Amino acid sequence: MSDVVILGVFVADTAYRADRQPRMGETILGRSFALGPGGKGSNQAVACAKAGADIAFVSRIGRDPFGDMAMAAWEGAGVDASAVERSDEATGAAYIFIDDATGDNAIIIAPGAAGGIDAGFVEAQADLIRGAKVFVTQLEQPMPAAVRALEIARDGGVTTVLNPAPAAKLPEGMLALCDWVTPNESEAEALTGVSVADLDGARAAGDALLAAGVAKGAVLTLGGQGALLHMADRSIHVPVFPAGPVVETTGAGDAFNGGFVAALAEGRDPEEAVRFGCATASISVTRAGTAPSMPSRAEIDALLAGS
Ligand code: RIB
Ligand code: NA
Repeated sequence: MSDVVILGVFVADTAYRADRQPRMGETILGRSFALGPGGKGSNQAVACAKAGADIAFVSRIGRDPFGDMAMAAWEGAGVDASAVERSDEATGAAYIFIDDATGDNAIIIAPGAAGGIDAGFVEAQADLIRGAKVFVTQLEQPMPAAVRALEIARDGGVTTVLNPAPAAKLPEGMLALCDWVTPNESEAEALTGVSVADLDGARAAGDALLAAGVAKGAVLTLGGQGALLHMADRSIHVPVFPAGPVVETTGAGDAFNGGFVAALAEGRDPEEAVRFGCATASISVTRAGTAPSMPSRAEIDALLAGS
């Protein structure tokens, strides 16, 4: 049994840097290409394991080179992958365009084998989920699987965390299965209809999420502005921790979530867990790639100690 169980998707990130995206029918020359392990759930699992948590990942991948890349990434980070099923379908992949000037990204996800994660698949992992202290999922695998897993976790008294990414409309009642939700600005807007242009907007979106049934709190990740921890009795803004020049922000939200839940599973209070998540993300953006940029526990502790 593991303290943290994460249901989610692995994809191979294929990241292209160029001045702009091609128009339909056009071919342009890019600046560079990088291939590496990605996918929100898997990135969060890697971040969480490297942050020191005992964590199991639940997913589906293929028996292909991208699937082997996944297994190597999990082994390297110390993620328990025994609840990952390998099928004859292809492992997922993501096209990531990175604007060379701004560092902004645009992504297409093809979940491959992970698109076959359904409620029955999750049901087969019910004991693992119920045995955790914290359960986490996102919205890259099919929605019914996320809902069923949250139901199982909630039923088992497990702390539930939904990172509602990528932005999607949630089925009625899904937020009420969550102790914590961790949207970024645009995801919070998609969930609440409240514009999150500043901290006041973030607080208003946080109120809407609590009103929709989120039990403990909303944590809104705000890019370079850090995060807002919003609970019924307090709202705390946690800034980022300067850790060096920003190289790539893709996966920063995953770093935050992995760190945040690792700290929750250790029994830290919510503000400390958010600070821990912000420190994890702050280091990850100083390095290229998503999963490969996740910091070790020693690096996170050192950044927090120096702040
Ligand atoms: O959150 C970043 C991740 O989103 C990338 O690794 C990419 O795979 C997409 O899933
Ligand atoms: Na990074």
